[in-house]
Amino acid sequence: MRRLVGETTLRPRQLILPMFVAEGADAPRSISSMPGVVQHTRDSLRKAAVEAVRAGVGGLMIFGVPEKRDAVGSGAIDENGILNVALRDLRAELGDSTVLMADTCLDEFTDHGHCGVLDADGGVDNDATLRVYAEMGVAQAEAGAHLLGPSGMMDGQVGVIRSALDQAGLTEIGILAYSAKYASAFYGPFREAVDSQLKGDRKTYQQDPGNAREALHEVELDIAEGADMIMIKPALSYLDVIRAAADMSPVPVAAYNISGEYAMVEAAAANGWLDRERTILEVLTSIRRAGADMILTYWAAEAAPWLD
Ligand code: PBG
Repeated sequence: MRRLVGETTLRPRQLILPMFVAEGADAPRSISSMPGVVQHTRDSLRKAAVEAVRAGVGGLMIFGVPEKRDAVGSGAIDENGILNVALRDLRAELGDSTVLMADTCLDEFTDHGHCGVLDADGGVDNDATLRVYAEMGVAQAEAGAHLLGPSGMMDGQVGVIRSALDQAGLTEIGILAYSAKYASAFYGPFREAVDSQLKGDRKTYQQDPGNAREALHEVELDIAEGADMIMIKPALSYLDVIRAAADMSPVPVAAYNISGEYAMVEAAAANGWLDRERTILEVLTSIRRAGADMILTYWAAEAAPWLD
């Protein structure tokens, strides 16, 4: 009877697997704060991606970890930059059998670790960053991404990427906008995952955890600029924001079950304090219940077969 009356569905196609690929790596490298997640080599990324797609996940979100960084994040635009190379590998391997997504943000590629380029005073220069994002988006689309994920929280980022894609004739490429991304302590393990160089914080461009109305304003702006889907991030401390966005958004809503949320469950489960599988399914179900159509989660490939 519980099965008959269950309100919330959780299906493999609703899960998106974030993956990391490291330039110059000759073996996968573990990430100590995210047990079970690795920085892939180009080769191990391809294999893990094929397995995830076989397990039924709905999409893959790829992050690059470059060997060299500079002030303007040149590696993000370079067609031989690690993220663009990996996207080309994956598109050749997978074709259109999954939705291939790219993180469209500079923080992995800058030597200061910020999501944008800096002005003379060391602050992030919103509009100068937009010009770089436009080029980065086109490079990722040309490399084979189906969907771009601008995650830098610069004002106007969706609009400039959309028009750059259209001008380049890349009209079929979609945008999954990180609309409401909070300045969260839960990103901690991700900083290790991408060898982030950041000192300080991202409070001048990411949202204050106490603000909910502001999130809906960001969602409205991104939709007006041409977002095909929107995202709320992180997920668990922001279930109310996911619900509010789901109630008003005319486009699909994603939620990112982020690194710190993953690490907490893994650490507790490793200590025998939580039933790992039950906890993971409860976490994912609750994010769906809050209204997310799809969930980015490091458990995507592992959890997908549990759902059948
Ligand atoms: C920025 C970006 C971050 C994450 C995804 N994209 C880090 C940040 O904003 O500091 C975090 C994802 C996670 O914690 O799992 N490109």
